[in-house]
Amino acid sequence: MTNLQDRYGRRFEYLRLSITDVCNFKCQYCLPDGYLGDKHQHFLSVDELRRVMHAFAALGTSKIRLTGGEPSVRKEFEQLIEIAANTPGISTVATTTNGYRLAANAHKWRQLGLSQINVSLDSLDPELFRRITGNGRHQKVLDGIEAALDAEYRKVKINVVLMKDLNHQQLPAFLEYVRQRPVDIRFIELMQTGLGKDYFDAHHISGESIKQQLVALGWQVQPRGPQDGPALMLRHPDYAGGIGLIMPYSKDFCASCNRLRVSALGKLHLCLFTECGVELRDLLGNDQHQEMLQQRLLAQLQQKDATHQLHQGLTGVTQHLASIGG
Ligand code: GTP
Ligand code: 5AD
Ligand code: SF4
Repeated sequence: MTNLQDRYGRRFEYLRLSITDVCNFKCQYCLPDGYLGDKHQHFLSVDELRRVMHAFAALGTSKIRLTGGEPSVRKEFEQLIEIAANTPGISTVATTTNGYRLAANAHKWRQLGLSQINVSLDSLDPELFRRITGNGRHQKVLDGIEAALDAEYRKVKINVVLMKDLNHQQLPAFLEYVRQRPVDIRFIELMQTGLGKDYFDAHHISGESIKQQLVALGWQVQPRGPQDGPALMLRHPDYAGGIGLIMPYSKDFCASCNRLRVSALGKLHLCLFTECGVELRDLLGNDQHQEMLQQRLLAQLQQKDATHQLHQGLTGVTQHLASIGG
């Protein structure tokens, strides 16, 4: 049971911890020009990250997801998997990756303690994939997903950012993909960011149309538990995998929020759309500050709003989701 509970009774047993802003892909909706790092930007060190993990775990966090940017480009990625897996109280270590390094490493990461993996795959068509991500290694990502399935992760999920006129008509291909494979594909509504406003205007589409198509095909909406997170899941008896919808623009989306975020620069983000965040770094320099760090986390959590501001057409100032780890 966690102490991390907010004014609205939501519990936060899940930490998304970003370990780098750097990414080797150039997804049009996220980092269209890519980001290979800046020598003036100092990401949290391994020791600082370890202290973040310990403080959250001491407050009842049981799941840590290593995010980015692309988490696997950080040279200490494997060390961080091990640290997370060995933190008392942490029972699930997950990551979200573009899949570029997955085929070569899925088994090794599994052995180091990684238990769940989410892979971004915006298209099953290689040419469209290249257009969206700026990267031509589509087959490598597909191979990575197969390797993850082979390595027996507890869960393998695929994220597809849903985009009008790009992939929104590809539902049949994605359904075929999950017919025999035990993976869940989640369609994520494109979210507006500072860098991506024009892209948003051109390509945003509600997930509702996908839901209606699925229901018409006999897919059933699954009941949602209190700790199920943002995705609405649908299943069909003839398919090994499921389809999920992450619809941040839908009513009540934030009522099921169960995650907190710490950026690679050491700020606590109570929501994906609060770019300024709360500084934690001053308490991460040594183990003696653990108590104060925990107090700060508990106090800040009481400031968390009931919902994000996307409904009012406001996006906060989040420039791109890679800076907060998605
Ligand atoms: P599970 O732990 O498997 O449920 O995964 P997850 O959905 O938490 O992780 P993942 O990194 O795969 O997240 C998928 C994407 O959904 C994120 O990168 C965001 O784009 C979106 N998303 C996840 N959580 C939130 C949230 O709290 N708010 C909003 N607006 N979008 C979110
Ligand atoms: N809208 C929706 N999803 C996004 N992601 C990154 N930027 C956006 C956006 N603007 C997704 C990626 C990946 C996850 C980490 O975040 O596709 O699956
Ligand atoms: Fe990189 Fe992920 Fe952003 Fe694509 S969505 S550019 S893979 S951080």
